[in-house]
Amino acid sequence: MGSGGLAPGTPLPSVRGLARELEVSPTTVATAYRDLRTRGLVVTHERSRTVVSHVPPLVSRPHAPLPEGVRDLAAGDPDPLLLPDLAATLRTLDVPVRGYGEEAIVPELARRAVAWFGADDIDASSLVAVSGALDGIERVLGTALRVGDRVAVEDPGYTGLLDLLRAMGLVPVPVPVDDDGLDPDVLAGVVGGCEAVLLTPRAHNPTGAAMTAERADALRTVLDDVPGVLVVEDDHAADIAGAPARTLTRGRERWAVVRSLAKTLGPDLRVAVVAGDERTVTRLATRLRVGPGWVSTVLQHLAVALWDAAAADGGLERAAATYAERRRALLDALDGAGIPASGRTGLNVWVPVPEETPVVRGLLDRGWAVQAGERYRLAAPPAIRVTVARLEPADAGAVAAAFADVLRHGSATRLG
Ligand SMILES: Cc1ncc(COP(=O)(O)O)c(C=O)c1O
Repeated sequence: MGSGGLAPGTPLPSVRGLARELEVSPTTVATAYRDLRTRGLVVTHERSRTVVSHVPPLVSRPHAPLPEGVRDLAAGDPDPLLLPDLAATLRTLDVPVRGYGEEAIVPELARRAVAWFGADDIDASSLVAVSGALDGIERVLGTALRVGDRVAVEDPGYTGLLDLLRAMGLVPVPVPVDDDGLDPDVLAGVVGGCEAVLLTPRAHNPTGAAMTAERADALRTVLDDVPGVLVVEDDHAADIAGAPARTLTRGRERWAVVRSLAKTLGPDLRVAVVAGDERTVTRLATRLRVGPGWVSTVLQHLAVALWDAAAADGGLERAAATYAERRRALLDALDGAGIPASGRTGLNVWVPVPEETPVVRGLLDRGWAVQAGERYRLAAPPAIRVTVARLEPADAGAVAAAFADVLRHGSATRLG
């Protein structure tokens, strides 16, 4: 189980059967099963047997250094040149000394966040600062869900979210996503068995999808039938996404919209804000208080100062327009080479391929590092993720030519 010897979903023998086999009392086996359940290693679904849970043996995957001369289109970071100037902002930063027992969110950040959400008609009267989007999502899910609960997710979807769900012992339920967002028909079929829906309304990673108004209406209709389901939106790229904000959360019982400042102001800030229904936000904030307490106000003040710097020189609009230009250049170049791809918004372009590994290897041989789609997919077909954040339009043609070359030569290989 913990060693990976028993795959997630493997059913455990019945209590009576195992007791007979081991010649111990059924109470002993039932107690052992309860212990495993408490530790999150197994789950018992209603009216079904106890199965091994999806909590994975946690593995860390450090980034392997790239060979000399290879260009990195794999790491999903924003372009450092499109972020506000950290060093200059730090030099002018004036942070009051704070102790325990003060407000968890500094008023300057709260004011900006309320206006930010309010501009998109998202009620931020309950608001909390967290350490990045994933921290916020983990904390929101932690307020309401238990090990073994099912969460509808986009497929393909961000590997960080899929890893997080598995690490929490939650079961991702795949819902296909196209350019316009989640598939409403598939969602309608699965959402009744889910405790939560987790989605990325724009700058979807890896496909670049962004919810259209029409799709949002269709999805709201589906979600209206399940008023108790928690809806969590990961608006991780926010202002640089290249698409308007849309939300499915308005008027729901349990909801949260998480907006990170990582892509707009810098990943190392580790600051995000969460708006949600009062109960969810209060539970999150209370839990945060008994743990780390609050997000360092040094970072919160820095976030405010960087935000102001970006607003003053039009940095966010410039970044959004530059990313749009880079996506467009690669999509056009791929299209010119006869290679279909998607990437309407955000930092990534998603290129369907017959087989991922040979394409990743072939592109690496030609000087481009990209991501195999495997870790982003549940049931979705194979594809390659190309991060365009630092890809100058002048280089898009070379990437498309490398793709075309690899795809032409990749398929005929006979395997031994
Ligand atoms: C969809 C999505 N959510 C969240 C994150 C991470 O956000 P944060 O750094 O604020 O945790 C990323 C990073 O690329 C992402 O692509």
